[in-house]
Amino acid sequence: MPGQAAELVFDEATKQYEGRDEAAVDHLSLTVRAGEICVLVGPSGGGKTTALRLVNRLIPLTSGDIRIDGTSILDQDVVRLRRGIGYVIQQVGLFPHMTVEANIGTVPRLYGRPRAWIRTRSAELLELVGLDSSYAKRYPAQLSGGERQRVGLARALAGNPPLMLMDEPFGAIDPIVRARLQDAFLALQKEVRKTVVFVTHDIDEAIKVGDRIAIFRRGGRLAQYDTPQAILERPADEFVAEFVGADRALKALALHTLAELDLGAPAGGPPCPRTSTVRDALALMLQMDAQKLAVTDERGVVVGSVTREQLLS
Ligand SMILES: Nc1ncnc2c1ncn2[C@@H]1O[C@H](COP(=O)(O)OP(=O)(O)OP(=O)(O)O)[C@@H](O)[C@H]1O
Ligand SMILES: [Mg+2]
Repeated sequence: MPGQAAELVFDEATKQYEGRDEAAVDHLSLTVRAGEICVLVGPSGGGKTTALRLVNRLIPLTSGDIRIDGTSILDQDVVRLRRGIGYVIQQVGLFPHMTVEANIGTVPRLYGRPRAWIRTRSAELLELVGLDSSYAKRYPAQLSGGERQRVGLARALAGNPPLMLMDEPFGAIDPIVRARLQDAFLALQKEVRKTVVFVTHDIDEAIKVGDRIAIFRRGGRLAQYDTPQAILERPADEFVAEFVGADRALKALALHTLAELDLGAPAGGPPCPRTSTVRDALALMLQMDAQKLAVTDERGVVVGSVTREQLLS
């Protein structure tokens, strides 16, 4: 089976649906580096899903090219191309008549992997996405929405694809579970280091999960492609500035954690883990009406302190 991460290049990729005046994706050129998460974000109808589906050839290109590790998708056998790409969609699309284990084994079965191998791999992947082994024999209908999303993610990873396409994978999930899934996904990505194209219409999600963000405007045109920090600090134009929101200075605080600051000597105040973002720490301070926080490590031991002034500087 394939492995590791691939570089993905959109080269003037264009899609014009039949009977439509405007292109859905218009001369899109961008490079997603191997092992990076690129988030596509933009208004509804902006061409995000179309851009994603061009990659695994669910939709044919009108013009331009898309290359994976230097090879045009047009020069690859479409079945092999798709097997090498993990695809996660909002409705997950698990097979309802198959157990969780069988769902996860879909691609490995296509590669002719033996049953024992698939069982072991499936157990590993369940653990990786934070579900215990008792889930293996359950059916999709016996899972919560968030659990189904995790199984969908495990299934997409099962063939060890160098490239993952994720279309609003956490879209229909309540904010708390969603935040947990985002954390789980980022922890997972630290281990597996896939190249990921991740679609969302939620700019906060984009900032949280993206190494780089591609902001689309209507008509599938790229407005800006940059790191979250650069987009928040230097939006390319009015459209981007408006899209990221007037509170972009506040959003930028979510890009750093307390662990990155020069902490003061341990002191009193409400406890706050050093893995918290500066934004969350500030929110806690306001909520507790505190001037200082006691910063704790993984074991809850106080390792330092921060003041409001420090967080805002
Ligand atoms: N099969 C199709 N035939 C014709 N037009 C289509 C087709 N699929 C999508 N479109 C049009 O292409 C444009 C881009 O659609 P797309 O689904 O890529 O947007 P999107 O950015 O994913 O939007 P959303 O955030 O709502 O999911 C829209 O104007 C849409 O109406
Ligand atoms: Mg879409």
